[in-house]
Amino acid sequence: MLKKILITGGAGFIGSHVVRLFVNKYPDYQLVNLDKLTYAGNLANLEDIQDKPNYRFIKGDIVDAAFIDELFTAEKFDSVIHLAAESHVDRSITNPLDFVMTNIVGTVNLLNAARKHWKGDYENKRFYHVSTDEVYGTLGEDGLFTEETAYDPHSPYSASKASSDHFVRAYQDTYGINAVISNCSNNYGSYHFPEKLIPLSINNIKNNLPIPVYGKGENIRDWLWVEDHARAIDVIFHNAESGTTYNVGGHNEWKNIDLIRLLCKIMDEKLDRDAGTSEKLITYVTDRAGHDLRYAIDSSKLQNDLGWKPSLQFEEGLEKTVDWFLSNEEWLNNVTSGNYQTYYEKQYTER
Ligand code: NAD
Ligand code: DAU
Repeated sequence: MLKKILITGGAGFIGSHVVRLFVNKYPDYQLVNLDKLTYAGNLANLEDIQDKPNYRFIKGDIVDAAFIDELFTAEKFDSVIHLAAESHVDRSITNPLDFVMTNIVGTVNLLNAARKHWKGDYENKRFYHVSTDEVYGTLGEDGLFTEETAYDPHSPYSASKASSDHFVRAYQDTYGINAVISNCSNNYGSYHFPEKLIPLSINNIKNNLPIPVYGKGENIRDWLWVEDHARAIDVIFHNAESGTTYNVGGHNEWKNIDLIRLLCKIMDEKLDRDAGTSEKLITYVTDRAGHDLRYAIDSSKLQNDLGWKPSLQFEEGLEKTVDWFLSNEEWLNNVTSGNYQTYYEKQYTER
């Protein structure tokens, strides 16, 4: 039985959904959420479960090796689900070193602690590393990323995630640590930080601000409902064989501009605006450097081996997401005040 789990990055977007799912589904587990609470970490994401007896929050930095070692000594974790990361591609273009520190050094610190504290008992422990499809680089018009696709990262973010994946596999091969990795496509849903395309556009449409579309809006992403990703993590954590990798994706490819047009239509309806009003906010801006053209995941291994599949149609999921953001104004206002304004100005006014 895996009972005492360290979840890193549990105050972020995906992490908060994983924490919520595990806390509610496994009352016998002890779940410890370790998070540095960077700009992307927010304990308001977890208000509904913060007082549950099987949940605890610890503020800390995975880059601090001594702290991580002490934490493993004190807590005697059975397993780790590692989500903590710097996650935004645009920020990685401005500050690559932050991504090297958290995504690579932070992951290696956790692996070192697992190696030391679980020695002699690796088969009864589990290190689950949550990664991204961006490690595979970009697709042309055809094809899908499989678990065998060669790594070919193009941004400092994806290079740092690729490196961390390699370290996880190296620790599995070299020391025998029980490790699994999943590589997922773009998530969307509640608590998504509004630096990312969908929540940023929702916030801008709501406030009648320009919707910045990079390049010609022709890049394609494969969107997955975040709660479906959390379910996949649950299934993989409990059932995957050591050393396995699973791709997770929505079979749901959208050109950015088509997605934005659909979002505008939904927002016009929800905000009682005349049809076509929000589309007028679409503004083409300078493209992202090194912008990958297309991501699309083949998740048949996960579907065939472990029976997981996405639950929601995108149109339904997007509408639910819009509803969530419109009825959680306070959350949105809190995360878009202060430092967000400085970030936004730097990122978008010079484009
Ligand atoms: P996020 O940016 O919303 O959350 C990251 C969390 O990690 C935040 O709570 C932050 O405070 C915490 N954190 C950052 N640096 C830390 C440090 N040094 N020590 C401790 N905590 C730290 O990210 P997300 O979108 O929820 O992504 C979670 C994970 O899933 C990441 O590893 C990301 O690479 C991966 N992923 C994300 C997506 C996506 O679409 N968002 C898709 C596939 C994989
Ligand atoms: O594929 C998984 C990855 O998806 C995760 O690993 C990352 O953590 C996550 O941030 C996400 O990366 P993307 O770069 O694909 O997501 P983002 O929301 O930043 O951008 C989605 C697409 O929209 C991309 O083609 C860039 C474009 N874009 C983005 C923003 C923020 C715009 O056109 N305008 C924008 O303002």
